[in-house]
Amino acid sequence: MNSKVSRALVISGLLALVAAGAGLWYAGGFQPDLSITARKNLGKDMISEEDFNTLITLHSECFDPEKRTYLNRYLTEVKYPDASEKIKAMIHKRVEDFILEGHQKKKDYMRDTQNVAWASLNGDMVGLYNCRTDEELTRGSMMIFNVCVTRKARGQGVGTALMKHAIESCQRPGRDLTLTVYEDNAPAISLYKKLGFKVVTPDRQPDDPYMSYSKLLMKYSPGAASR
Ligand SMILES: CC(C)(COP(=O)(O)OP(=O)(O)OC[C@H]1O[C@@H](n2cnc3c(N)ncnc32)[C@H](O)[C@@H]1OP(=O)(O)O)[C@@H](O)C(=O)NCCC(=O)NCCS
Repeated sequence: MNSKVSRALVISGLLALVAAGAGLWYAGGFQPDLSITARKNLGKDMISEEDFNTLITLHSECFDPEKRTYLNRYLTEVKYPDASEKIKAMIHKRVEDFILEGHQKKKDYMRDTQNVAWASLNGDMVGLYNCRTDEELTRGSMMIFNVCVTRKARGQGVGTALMKHAIESCQRPGRDLTLTVYEDNAPAISLYKKLGFKVVTPDRQPDDPYMSYSKLLMKYSPGAASR
């Protein structure tokens, strides 16, 4: 066989392999390797320092911009609407400091809070949630907090997998499962509605009004998915 013919055969063989791979991909042959790991409490259970730091980074990526926006808005539009521009500038500066200082507090919170779970996609940690009982916004309902998927991994079903896991493992027999979501967070609201959560009127107001500022309360009732 001359070298031109054998090179052509090798190239066409490679092209066929690539095409077969692509075909399998489109046919759903390659499933992304998605898994959820849950811990009762990170203070007591095992998590590597590296994974813990990744969780904190994930949380910051998802929620620091949101905290900056809503805290600034709440303080300048609701709490101190008549503040001068100079005072408003001081408020913005204080919010920035608060977010920076919050890094250690966030670590303490994650170590102390109940029921933390994270998603791994093809070996990388890409999302998290936690849930715990709440007295501040509800009367002792289990609440889901901190649902987050890293930007790069969004749109691939990770949020759905996390929320399905949360519904299974956080729900208590006969009790509602609740969460709050900013009213302009369309992706999250759509995800929650798809899984059976409904917007409800809160049955109590939190002591700190900031806790419910611009937020919807959503509830998943036992048996909701099968109705
Ligand atoms: C909300 C979030 C967790 C969704 O995660 P995700 O992995 O992208 O979600 P999925 O791929 O499983 O998508 C599930 C559903 O969410 C909704 N959704 C996701 N992205 C959306 C978008 N950009 N616009 C509208 N709806 C969207 C859709 O209903 C989607 O279902 P569909 O694919 O059948 O249309 C993710 O966008 C996120 O981490 N956002 C930042 C943090 C945050 O806001 N968390 C919620 C706090 S309450």
